[in-house]
Amino acid sequence: MKTKVVIITGGSKGIGKALVAEYLKNNYLVYSLSRTKVNLHKEVKQVVLDITDTNLLQKKMDVIFTEIQQFSLESITLINNAGRLGTIANIENIAVQDIQKSVALNILAPMQLSAIFIKKLQNESAQKTIINITSGAASTAYAGWTPYCSSKAALEMLTKTISLEQQTENNPVKIVAIRPGVVATAMQEQIRNTSKNNFSKVDKFIDLYKTNTLSTTRNVATKIYKIDAANKLKSGDIIDLRNILN
Ligand SMILES: NC(=O)c1ccc[n+]([C@@H]2O[C@H](COP(=O)([O-])OP(=O)(O)OC[C@H]3O[C@@H](n4cnc5c(N)ncnc54)[C@H](OP(=O)(O)O)[C@@H]3O)[C@@H](O)[C@H]2O)c1
Repeated sequence: MKTKVVIITGGSKGIGKALVAEYLKNNYLVYSLSRTKVNLHKEVKQVVLDITDTNLLQKKMDVIFTEIQQFSLESITLINNAGRLGTIANIENIAVQDIQKSVALNILAPMQLSAIFIKKLQNESAQKTIINITSGAASTAYAGWTPYCSSKAALEMLTKTISLEQQTENNPVKIVAIRPGVVATAMQEQIRNTSKNNFSKVDKFIDLYKTNTLSTTRNVATKIYKIDAANKLKSGDIIDLRNILN
């Protein structure tokens, strides 16, 4: 019997939590990485850490891969989902420590995790996929969101460069980026609660909420899972979930 594995960052809340439930329902061995331990199904392997701590992340991933290597794998997926907007304001009004946190979480951690994933699985012939959860903000600029927009743009470029690097490998990893659309999570609450002074487009997001236009985390997670399981995307693809039917 072969094992299907998924490693999800930010599995404690929002989209990540729904992804954990979706993959578990489909009989995956699920690892969830987040700073807080929450009430997830007992079969989920919760790994509690700040993934921007590069030394600790390497150590925890070493442990995870030692466990995984006991199994004969059918497939393995890394979902770089954890992300933060950070303070919403013009860049000169954001503390550098806050900028550093956003850059570390939104781009450095996915880069380090992708590198570890590729290296550890170099001789593994099972289906290997990295899914980066990006945002429309990677290509649409919003005043007040400089750390977020720029780090998501970098995440999409990482998707393209790694896909090129993998083309010449013997057991290549497929890598794609998915824009989930506007989803009902704490991140959207943060946006709606920002003053117009710091975020001039706040009314657009309040309207989306009032008109019930937000996707549910469950719907988003189901679509992402189906994309992964179908394995039909081309490596390097950047897709907007709003263009994918249920
Ligand atoms: N919601 C939207 O409308 C929307 C739209 C476009 C893109 N996205 C993207 O979708 C992804 C998920 O967003 P969401 O809305 O579900 O966010 P969320 O509800 O705020 O959840 C963020 C998750 O990231 C984890 N996390 C934050 N900092 C971490 C750290 N330093 N180390 C480990 N885990 C950390 C959090 O867990 P802990 O607090 O327990 O650490 C939490 O599980 C993000 O990449 C976001 O940019 C969201």
